[in-house]
Amino acid sequence: ALTPELSRQTKLKEVAGIPLQAPTVDNWSQIQTFKAKPDDLLICTYPKSGTTWIQEIVDMIEQNGDVEKCRQVIIQQRPPYIEWARPPQASGVDKANEMPASRILRTHLPTQLLPPSFWANNCKEAVELSNPQEDAARTRTQNFALCDPLTRLSSPKFLYVARNAKDCMVSYYHFYRMSQVLPDPGTWNEYFETFINGKVSWGSWFDHVKGWWEIRDRYQILFLFYEDIKKNPKQEIQKVMQFMGKNLDEEIVDKIVQETSFEKMKNNPMTNHSTVPKSVLDQSISPFMRKGWFGLFLDGTNLDYHGTVGDWKNHFTVAQNERFDEIYKQKMCGTSLNFCMEL
Ligand code: A3P
Repeated sequence: ALTPELSRQTKLKEVAGIPLQAPTVDNWSQIQTFKAKPDDLLICTYPKSGTTWIQEIVDMIEQNGDVEKCRQVIIQQRPPYIEWARPPQASGVDKANEMPASRILRTHLPTQLLPPSFWANNCKEAVELSNPQEDAARTRTQNFALCDPLTRLSSPKFLYVARNAKDCMVSYYHFYRMSQVLPDPGTWNEYFETFINGKVSWGSWFDHVKGWWEIRDRYQILFLFYEDIKKNPKQEIQKVMQFMGKNLDEEIVDKIVQETSFEKMKNNPMTNHSTVPKSVLDQSISPFMRKGWFGLFLDGTNLDYHGTVGDWKNHFTVAQNERFDEIYKQKMCGTSLNFCMEL
């Protein structure tokens, strides 16, 4: 557990214009010289995009659907964040260095801040993007298939999960409120400005998502969307399984779908962050897994699942929504990225 003195360290510092937590910046040389290995799998996300969810999915696949094995360690201590630093505890790099081969690691870093060794063993030549129309038409495919298969075998894998900007922004606001290791977000209106200006921890959502999307053809990147996992978990879990080179029976995949549902993970102390001390995450302010409940409509006919896509509508004013859409258009102009805003 963190000591209260350490947990009050809420100031952000910057690396190349990207705000990060101060202990991470203070440990930057260790992070930048981290040695990636060709058989690493790096889970990459902008904060609040479903990191915990994909982490549990990957872990369950890795453990062949063995629930007990996945429950041996709390989720926040499973794959380390390579940029994690909170001295005197071992840093993310220290932890990763002690792991046996075929490591699964995590990061929230944007592409330009990733330790350079991650790119070193990758596809030797950048694959030229096919014509832009084709690129736009290509629906959320796993472009790692374009890499030379032999090179693929000897390069790290990146599993990126993106979540639509508005829900991500709302989720991050509530996380900022309850986190005792991040600055006070202020009011929703104040936070709105901080977020769109990319002044939150780990920087701009727009640049992060665009950065990873733009290189997806050149490296072994499986680019997934939170909303797709929500809509069709089985299909997306199968993509992850294939990407990890695993081949599990359908009944195990079905079990993984069930065990990684919102309800299950919200009630599982190993995944719902309830073990994190209040001095770090105060879940009485906002629970880590905020949304999701089963609602029986008044006529009793429709047992529906209310999940975590579209909650932004409960936070954005009409004016904020219009402004956000305008900014979004400018910042995302030219990308073929296409997000689902509600289910
Ligand atoms: P909300 O704050 O909208 O509830 P991260 O793990 O990257 O910090 O992301 C946390 C967000 O993912 C939270 O969103 C959380 O509820 C959501 N989440 C976690 N597990 C989930 C699951 N099994 N299904 C759907 N959403 C999940």
